Amino acid sequence: MIPTPAIAPSILSADFARLGEQIETVMDAGARVIHVDVMDGHFVPPITMGPLAVSAIADRVHDAGGAVDVHLMIERPERQLHDFVSAGADCVTFHVEADAHAHRTLTAIQAAGALAGVALNPGTPAAAASVLADSADLLLCMSVNPGWGGQEFISAATTKLRQLRELAPASLLEVDGGIDADTAPGAAAAGATVFVAGSGVFGDRDPAGAYTRIVAAIGVR
Ligand code: DX5
Ligand code: ZN
Repeated sequence: MIPTPAIAPSILSADFARLGEQIETVMDAGARVIHVDVMDGHFVPPITMGPLAVSAIADRVHDAGGAVDVHLMIERPERQLHDFVSAGADCVTFHVEADAHAHRTLTAIQAAGALAGVALNPGTPAAAASVLADSADLLLCMSVNPGWGGQEFISAATTKLRQLRELAPASLLEVDGGIDADTAPGAAAAGATVFVAGSGVFGDRDPAGAYTRIVAAIGVR
């Protein structure tokens, strides 16, 4: 469902007035994973998108052979996960810091029919994922503090990626924040297989070209 390695453009940095067109542009350039950042104004200060945004893009992404990768930066993710899966999410990732019952939530996402991921903030050690690694399909290592696009890659994330890769040799390992053609190769060398890029793709005047440069930097094809 999620081909790897994959560059996953984050629509957080897209032009929302032209969202369908922007998705088509990066998918025409080869993207097969579209990342959707959901923020609730509590876990992180901003409020962004909900299930309506996922359902608005899901058919277009699926028809082009892609997957919708939902990153929940919200409190109580267990209350929302079904709405996101029903809206067309193929993978739902929530933060370990936001859920006292992370194992149960992983299981509920999988039972609903999606891949299940757990995300770690920059200040959360890799060990927080150790007892969850076997149950998760994906581990997400934040390389910026969640909440905003356009921040600088935190270099300590590279060490944590290595630790997470050791914990979960076969899982999808996603890196999110500050990814561009300069930072992606180090994350790839540390074991990342899914590379979220928001401003690194949609912040460029030429999103397809920026996508292609990141692909080339990690040597996907
Ligand atoms: C940040 C989000 C990211 C964001 C990344 O909280 O989780 O997915 O879109 O943006 P860039 O790539 O601009 O750092
Ligand atoms: Zn994200």
